Amino acid sequence: MSSIETFREIALPGSLRRAPAKVGEIARFFETFRGDETHPRWHSDWAWDNYDKIIPALSRHFGLKRLCEIGGGRDPLFQRQEANALGLHYTINDIDPVELAHAPEGYDKACFDIAGDLWALPGQPGPYDLMVSRMVFEHVADVERAWNNVQALLAPGGVALCFFPTLYAWPFVINHLIPESLSHKIVHALFPNRRDGGGDPKFPAVYDWCYGRESVLRPMLEKAGFSDIHVQPFWGQHYLAKFPVLRDVDAALDRLMARLDWRLFTSYTYVIVRK
Ligand SMILES: C[S@@+](CC[C@H](N)C(=O)[O-])C[C@H]1O[C@@H](n2cnc3c(N)ncnc32)[C@H](O)[C@@H]1O
Repeated sequence: MSSIETFREIALPGSLRRAPAKVGEIARFFETFRGDETHPRWHSDWAWDNYDKIIPALSRHFGLKRLCEIGGGRDPLFQRQEANALGLHYTINDIDPVELAHAPEGYDKACFDIAGDLWALPGQPGPYDLMVSRMVFEHVADVERAWNNVQALLAPGGVALCFFPTLYAWPFVINHLIPESLSHKIVHALFPNRRDGGGDPKFPAVYDWCYGRESVLRPMLEKAGFSDIHVQPFWGQHYLAKFPVLRDVDAALDRLMARLDWRLFTSYTYVIVRK
């Protein structure tokens, strides 16, 4: 038995003996989910607008109550009262105690590295029914280990939704290739609210396993122990918003890539898995 399986069996007894999730349930949920449809489903605007809507929908559909937001940091997705009204027991996780300290009081906070050694933690986190993250996995150096930890921390039948930017969308390829100091300067020039000391700081990105192709992600996720896996690709971003002609050319290319279902060049993805 591997060390992560031993963790599951000891920390979350019985979790190895439950029946696996039914394959295709997540895809069916996604097809029938009706959120804010003001943007086409292929566009990343849809993904941004619907992230906070799909989480309560997942919770209701699969009966998931214990929510952990991975890398929720200073800016948790839900107000505490909102989470209460949705019937969620809400925990915010972050690797950085400073980021967690910025989050308002009154939340359950769990400071740990989602890709770290769960055994080494003073108190065992989890189990959770629903684990979500937005713009976190591109910052994680060992994403395969993070997915293994997510699997270990989920209760049987639990669901995880991770929303992250993907290679090989050109802004993220550039961000990946250039030195962090230069990408900091570019992002600060394009998005003033992301300057240091602002409300939305820039964190270094490594893009480990940040792809929109299910054929690439599926074997790794299956190895982590997930049986029901859905990878939803999105195209388009707004890095050229201030440059009218380039912006329109870029948008036209995104439309074309979405029509051709060219997943090598997705900009973002939702990866939704069930234990
Ligand atoms: C770009 S911010 C995103 C914050 C928030 N999820 C949002 O969408 O506004 C990335 C967050 O992930 C946290 N983070 C980075 N690596 C992490 C890890 N290995 N485990 C947990 N949190 C991590 C950072 O400290 C930071 O708070």
